[in-house]
Amino acid sequence: MNVLITGGMGYIGSHTCVQMIAAGITPVIVDNLCNAKAEVLNRVEALTGVRPRFFVGDIRDEAFLDSVFAQTSVKAVVHFAGLKAVGESVSKPIEYYDNNVNGTLVLLRSMRKAGVKSLVFSSSATVYGDPQQVPITESSPTGATTNPYGRSKYMVEQCLTDLFAAEPDWSITLLRYFNPVGAHPSGSMGEDPQGIPNNLMPFIAQVAVGRRDKLAVFGDDYATPDGTGVRDYIHVMDLADGHIAALDKAGSEAGLHIFNLGTGKGSSVLDMVNAFSDACGQPVPYEICPRRPGDIAECWASTEKARQQLGWQATRSVAEMTRDTWRWQSQNPQGYQD
Ligand code: NAD
Ligand code: UFG
Repeated sequence: MNVLITGGMGYIGSHTCVQMIAAGITPVIVDNLCNAKAEVLNRVEALTGVRPRFFVGDIRDEAFLDSVFAQTSVKAVVHFAGLKAVGESVSKPIEYYDNNVNGTLVLLRSMRKAGVKSLVFSSSATVYGDPQQVPITESSPTGATTNPYGRSKYMVEQCLTDLFAAEPDWSITLLRYFNPVGAHPSGSMGEDPQGIPNNLMPFIAQVAVGRRDKLAVFGDDYATPDGTGVRDYIHVMDLADGHIAALDKAGSEAGLHIFNLGTGKGSSVLDMVNAFSDACGQPVPYEICPRRPGDIAECWASTEKARQQLGWQATRSVAEMTRDTWRWQSQNPQGYQD
């Protein structure tokens, strides 16, 4: 089966392509390379022996998408393409709404013209805002988002919900990721943020490899066991497998399907620092700093629904997340080099 992967050159998309090929699915990639390097395709090929078809272009270009659908006979779309930096979204809301919301609408129009009505969408735990209780279930309240990035994800969820209400022959799956981290166990693929990393794990990895002096720990006065923020970190390979389970089970049945993809376990910032120190064999220097505006104290997923309905659950430990991130970072200290 051919599946179109928008944003397939990016962090989660590229790992999903590798796992899809292993599962006998043929990925067809669309990406405008605004946050990815062309070298990713070589790495996918080296790992799998398959070089996926890759169309360079923008999902907001409807004629481009129409021509991709006309050439590829895809049966479903996994839609990763979008902008994802929370802080940047505050200063560039037009770019974020245009890419994430308008880009999705253009994609949906093009899919409908091509008769492709199966979509898996990359949503985020950010749609839950500051949760009233943990673990967070799929029926927990959504919409109290705190930044344009989060609102763009919530808006797309609403657009897709309305589309399904109007056209119930669609199969739409909203996957709400918790905190994706880790890398391919070979060390040849991983997360390659441009500029200063916004997220914890790539920042720690760049400190460990000597690209940055020390980690700023954003607050140690939260109501959590050690005072630092608690998140549900999920290995990117588990996340990739979750997409295949979603495509397999939900993607073939008409309906609006919503799943959390997390591990169901919370780890603090200091837990992750300590796990990373173990993985790389040296201490990771850090300094306690003020809280980052907009951060929540704790967040982790209820994983029951995905386990029961998709037959999927995350299996990789925090030790594997840090080990694989370190292998990627130490083998590729400057990330992908084109
Ligand atoms: P990423 O930036 O590595 O990948 C996104 C890819 O989409 C990039 O390769 C980029 O070049 C491409 N892209 C962006 N805009 C495009 C456009 N208009 N047309 C074509 N290609 C375009 O990000 P990621 O971490 O792999 O995230 C994938 C998806 O998952 C995103 O939608 C993101 O919002 C969502 N998500 C990510 C996280 C996370 O922490 N990484 C958490 C929750 C949800
Ligand atoms: N943190 C630090 N120092 C850093 C970076 C992060 O102490 O340099 C802390 C944060 O305060 C937080 C934890 O590490 O307690 C995780 O922070 P991340 O930035 O890695 O992740 P967030 O949970 O803030 O955000 C992530 C994604 C968002 C997504 C959200 C919910 O970046 O896109 O999860 O899914 F919306």
